[in-house]
Parts: sequence; C-alpha cells; structure tokens
Amino acid sequence: MIGPANLDYVAHNRGGVLRKGAMKGIVFSGMQPSGTPHIGNKLGALDNWVKMQDEYDCIYGIVDWHALTTGYEDPKEVGRQSLELAMIWLACGLDPQKSTLMLQSAVPEHAELHLLFSMFLSLPRLERIPTYKEKLREIEGRNLTTYGFLGYPVLQAADILIYKSTHVPVGKDQDYHLELTREVAEQFNRLYGQLFPITQTVHTVFPVLPGTDGRKMSKSYGNTSSLTDSEDMIKDKVRNMVTDPQRIKRTDPGRPEVCPVYAYYQAFAPQEAERTAHECRNALRGCVECKLGLVEPVQAVVRPVREGVETWQQQPDEVARILHTGSQQARGRAQQTVTEVREHLGLWQP
Ligand code: TYM
Repeated sequence: MIGPANLDYVAHNRGGVLRKGAMKGIVFSGMQPSGTPHIGNKLGALDNWVKMQDEYDCIYGIVDWHALTTGYEDPKEVGRQSLELAMIWLACGLDPQKSTLMLQSAVPEHAELHLLFSMFLSLPRLERIPTYKEKLREIEGRNLTTYGFLGYPVLQAADILIYKSTHVPVGKDQDYHLELTREVAEQFNRLYGQLFPITQTVHTVFPVLPGTDGRKMSKSYGNTSSLTDSEDMIKDKVRNMVTDPQRIKRTDPGRPEVCPVYAYYQAFAPQEAERTAHECRNALRGCVECKLGLVEPVQAVVRPVREGVETWQQQPDEVARILHTGSQQARGRAQQTVTEVREHLGLWQP
C-alpha cells in the first residue's frame, strides 16, 4: 500500500507526496476505447480523475489511436466504443463543467508532437520498456511487431506533454510509460530549450486491482468485471473467485495475503478487511461465506455506474456534443503548444 491511507491520493515523482489542495496543476489522463472499462480502471484511475476535477485543470482523453495500435485489423468498433466510454465516464462522475473531455483523434496535434518526439527517441530505449515485451508475449494471434505499437508510449508522452501536464493519474501498469514521458521532456528541454514540465504520476491507494483469479486483470483472461455488468453477472463472478489454493478444508487456516478475495475486501469494503483477514487466518469463516459477503460491496460500486450509463444512453447527441466541445477546447491548447515546439526547434512557420 502506498502512502498513508488518509490521503485522498498520492503522487510519485522520485518520492514526492502530494497533499490534496496543496497545489494546482494541469492533469491529463487517457483511456482506450477497447471494450467496456472494468472495476480496475475505476479503482486505479477514474476515482482519482473524479476527485482531481475540483482541484486541478483536468483534461481527460479517449485515446482512440492507442486502441488502433493493437486493434488495427478491425477498427470498425472503435468509434462506437469511444461514445460508450464517454457515457461511462459521465456515469462515474466526470463533469464536463469542470473537466475537458476530449477525443484524441479530434486533436491531430497529438500526432505532430508524437512525430517530433520520435526523431530523438532511440529504438533500443523503446524496445527495453518492460510492458512492450510483456504485451508482445501476451497478445496472441496478432502481429504487433509494428512501428505503431513500438511507438505507443511515445504517443502517450505526446498526449501528456501537449497540455504541459504536471500530474497524470493512472494505475500502476502505466509507471514505465510515465517514466519515459519524463525522459522525453528532459531530452526535449535539453536539446531545444526549456518547455515541458517533469510530470508526476498519481496513484490511487489501489493502483493494481488483481483479476478475480488473482492473476493480472485482463479481458483476455476473462477475470474482470465490467462497469456495466448486471447484478447476476457480478454475483456469479464474485462467487467464482479463486481463493488461497492451500486452504482446502474449511478448518484450514488461510493466507489473506495471497487471496484475491481479501484484496477485493481491501478495495471494496476496507472497513471489513481487517476482520476478514483475522477470520481467514484463524479458519473462523469459510471461503464461500467470505465471497458472499463481498457481493454487495462490489454491486454498490457498479450499480450507480450501470444505471448512470442507461440514462446517458438516452442522450447520445448530448454526449457527442460534450466530446465535440471538449475536443475543440483541447485543440486550442494543443495548437498553442505545437507553435511553441516549432519555435523551439527553429522550424520556419509561414
Ligand atoms: P488503459 O485504457 O489500459 O487503462 C485506463 C486506466 O486504468 C488503469 N488500470 C488499472 N488500475 C488498477 N488496477 C487494474 N487492474 C487496472 N487496469 C487498468 C490504467 O493504469 C489506466 O490508468 N496507456 C494508457 C492510456 C493512455 C494514457 C495516455 C494514460 C494513453 N495516453 C496519457 C495516461 C496519460 C492505457 O492503455 O490505459
């Protein structure tokens, strides 16, 4: 667990810790429109996005180009999924009056900055990023030895730096990409003069939610619960969660530290986590009963999102308008940065 629990969020930049309200900054974060987001996306990222709206100048992007890096063979669904993602965000509490909600491909300046960064970034540096190798291994049946997929984190750095973002709220799996973003900013500033801030990573107190089987949460493993799952689906998924494999009989003492059900108690019902761990270690409660107790806390997180989405689904034009307005606002800011970038490089601007 990172930082004291009474902080709403913690920021990491070589050890720095940020208290809510202590400073204002610019926030950018993004999410891929590749299927309905899951409870990990909410606990690891969206919850902070919502909190930060009141304290920061926030821009949140539906990063549809990123979805194409792995889904380039069948991009037809990306448009529809972008609109659906916006509905989920609104249902989770992102407020277009407070934050700018935008679509990456509607702001082509992200691509220009990506291109300029790619001039000085070395191939071996990108190939060394652990998530690159991991994804190449994990995602089967698709050729990912592409230029676009290798450049994924460069595009992410462009998304962040084009708004001169100071804080980026994400889950732990994004740490390597944000490390690269800081390096890109440092390298740019060194080569062409000071322009970009050194961005801080912001985590929730739950930056890695494991899958229901204890492995990494991934749609391809079928171990996630989406933010629009029905009550029955949630019940089934929680009841089928994997528990400590060494706890075979009801009377065996369990090990909460290896059990995803315990991790979910910490995330969804923290007030019951300590008692759960005690009862597990001392075989006072069986795994079936323990899982049953988790169903309602998970429902309580998903239910308002599912219901909110149903409401937004009645107003697709309004959601499209919100994204259109947000993308235009974002574009104005992005154009300003790109002008400065061209000046720094010494490009002729007719
Ligand atoms: P994406 O779309 O995979 O995930 C969106 C956010 O959800 C977090 N997350 C999790 N957090 C905790 N536990 C989990 N199991 C879990 N699974 C996902 C992710 O860390 C992320 O914060 N590369 C990014 C998208 C991106 C971006 C950006 C992010 C593009 N440009 C600029 C920040 C800034 C991604 O694929 O996120």
